[in-house]
Amino acid sequence: MLANSEKSIADSLEVNKRLLPHMPFLLQDLWVLGSSADQIIEVVGSLKSLSPLKKILDIGCGKGAVSIQLVARYGFQAVGIDAMSPFLEEAEKKGSERNVSHLCQFINQDIREYVSNDHDYDLVILAALGGIFGSFQNTIAKMRTQVHSGGFMIIDDGYLKKGNHLNRKSYGHYKNYDNTIWELTFFGDRIINQVDTSEVSKNINREYLDLIKRRGEELISKHRELKKDINDYIRLQEEECDVLENDIEGALWVIRKR
Ligand SMILES: C[S@@+](CC[C@H](N)C(=O)[O-])C[C@H]1O[C@@H](n2cnc3c(N)ncnc32)[C@H](O)[C@@H]1O
Repeated sequence: MLANSEKSIADSLEVNKRLLPHMPFLLQDLWVLGSSADQIIEVVGSLKSLSPLKKILDIGCGKGAVSIQLVARYGFQAVGIDAMSPFLEEAEKKGSERNVSHLCQFINQDIREYVSNDHDYDLVILAALGGIFGSFQNTIAKMRTQVHSGGFMIIDDGYLKKGNHLNRKSYGHYKNYDNTIWELTFFGDRIINQVDTSEVSKNINREYLDLIKRRGEELISKHRELKKDINDYIRLQEEECDVLENDIEGALWVIRKR
């Protein structure tokens, strides 16, 4: 794991730094790490008729669940960036199991550093990364540097059902619907699709929580000293499921750069 990416990774996984080295163990039963992968794959299918897509970028790709499935289904070339090497090793493995390794490149780098250089991808995806770049306006500002004009950006995240602020760590970027859309289109880009992800994610999140809890118990039996950290993490995950069900409408947006 890259040292200066630790805090960002820990925030994105909602875990404290002490538990970070154990996340590959706790999350071993999950391929998708929090995004609406199936829905992303479906909406990308509908983009191909608008413009030929060849090169895609998956920022914060985790174990590659989104990019590998896109490559396997549509034959793109994908670059996935993540700073958690055990996740990338898993991504390599999955890529070779699906015979798409030659079309995938996984890079161990901090995504904030990667996007500081411009690129000309056809599509960039930010799935379940929350407010890593701050507000939605800042997020889109970064993402649009990664695609050419007319290219696509997919953000898998959401907006507040009520109010315009949520007082929870790593949730500071959430706004109400109108403000979210205002920020996403601040640079004159066009939202060409919006998919509601709440219902699907609700069931998946609960299912994943059970898997994580089981691995948590296993880890506690081997590392008693981690008991408090693990229980805190599970409690936060339970809370997160509640917040996602009660306060946030899950949405994924497809935005076309002008
Ligand atoms: C919640 S997971 C989502 C993974 C993936 N998009 C998916 O849906 O399966 C967030 C990912 O972002 C990565 N991450 C967080 N901050 C990062 C950073 N600054 N640089 C690189 N990767 C980062 C984490 O290692 C983790 O794999």
